[in-house]
Amino acid sequence: MYDPYLLVKCFSLIPKKAIFAENNIIMEFKRNIIITGGAGFIGSHVVRLFVNKYPEYHIINLDKLTYAGNLANLKDVEDKPNYTFVRADICDFDKMCELMTQYRVDGVIHLAAESHVDRSIKDPFTFAQTNVMGTLSLLQAAKLYWESLPEGYEGKRFYHISTDEVYGALKLTNPEGVESPFTTKASSDHHHAYGKDFFTEDKKYQPHSPYSASKASSDHFVRAFHDTYGMPTIVTNCSNNYGPYQFPEKLIPLFINNIRHRKPLPVYGKGENVRDWLYVEDHARAIDLIFHKGNVADTYNIGGFNEWKNIDIIKVVIKTVDRLLGRPEGADEDLITHVTDRLGHDARYAIDSRKLQKELGWEPSLQFEEGIERTVKWYLDHQDWMDNVTSGDYMKYYDDMYKNR
Ligand SMILES: NC(=O)c1ccc[n+]([C@@H]2O[C@H](COP(=O)([O-])OP(=O)(O)OC[C@H]3O[C@@H](n4cnc5c(N)ncnc54)[C@H](O)[C@@H]3O)[C@@H](O)[C@H]2O)c1
Repeated sequence: MYDPYLLVKCFSLIPKKAIFAENNIIMEFKRNIIITGGAGFIGSHVVRLFVNKYPEYHIINLDKLTYAGNLANLKDVEDKPNYTFVRADICDFDKMCELMTQYRVDGVIHLAAESHVDRSIKDPFTFAQTNVMGTLSLLQAAKLYWESLPEGYEGKRFYHISTDEVYGALKLTNPEGVESPFTTKASSDHHHAYGKDFFTEDKKYQPHSPYSASKASSDHFVRAFHDTYGMPTIVTNCSNNYGPYQFPEKLIPLFINNIRHRKPLPVYGKGENVRDWLYVEDHARAIDLIFHKGNVADTYNIGGFNEWKNIDIIKVVIKTVDRLLGRPEGADEDLITHVTDRLGHDARYAIDSRKLQKELGWEPSLQFEEGIERTVKWYLDHQDWMDNVTSGDYMKYYDDMYKNR
């Protein structure tokens, strides 16, 4: 019978990974951090930031490489001495125990998840398995390893990345938009609020989709591990991210690609649903700050006070793509095709991130118009990346890359 405690004991004999510094002195890494889901959209930005900013940290990217994981997202850091990729499933508890001890992990930044609401409506089981059971497996593996150490939880961190969708839907009380009560750098001229309420950290959880229900459940498990065992956990709930390397099943990259190829743009219902958008690198910066400076057992909401109706954001994307491709601006609006609304489609999400602003001084760095311009330009300039993903060729990248090693 498998005994995780025995495994923890055996692996504690393995020395820490060392690297040669420029002066040829062997150094130990100051921290060993597992980032789960690092081959996905947000995870790849977090891995890149940590690998480049902290050469003294060993960053272990743990990813199962589902359809959403793509190692081509990290080509620029894959040969760095402080970066290791491990293909593994977070639901594989034995493997999680092995990795914790093998790499002497003292920090976990957990992003691995099934993340697409539409898929969760079709296949809720996979979402419960990965998002709930996978998170539990990772928590328990970290707990066993950390509790086996003489210093216990001291200096350890389990940071769980979650979503604003756990809070449920806000009412669209101002469908025409009113002046927003808050301003940040991410808000632009558009800068409307579509309702009076915002998601604060103490808002009751009311998830509506299988995706958000599975994320809510995982958030509860993370907090329970703090409250029950004293594990140093942190949870953050972020709004919709946009930027490079997002899998093109999500609105912005899907639409950029469709506009380029003059394919229909399927818009749910009238496109009136409101989302709060944040540039992905700003999310990664917030994660860095909170991982290092956030209070244990605390929750922080991350967002840009940057609400947009889907239909308005689609029009901005169309104009930007048209302009960058030298087409008359807005010419491709005729591609918009209204389709039957998503089941249980939440009306409005709007994050109040003032706590993070006040306590840790985080603010989005980009205005939305600048972020969307960068994003559209990135996808248009990286058609090879897009073709690799849409053709399915990216799934072969891992095998090609590792078969000779
Ligand atoms: N995208 C957003 O707008 C957004 C907003 C707020 C929070 N989040 C949260 O941030 C996290 C990352 O989101 P994303 O958009 O980058 O997701 P993504 O779908 O792009 O990436 C998920 C990654 O997790 C990996 N993965 C999936 N199942 C796994 C498993 N069982 N074991 C190991 N790896 C597995 C995938 O291979 C992929 O690389 C998720 O937890 C999501 O809930 C996302």
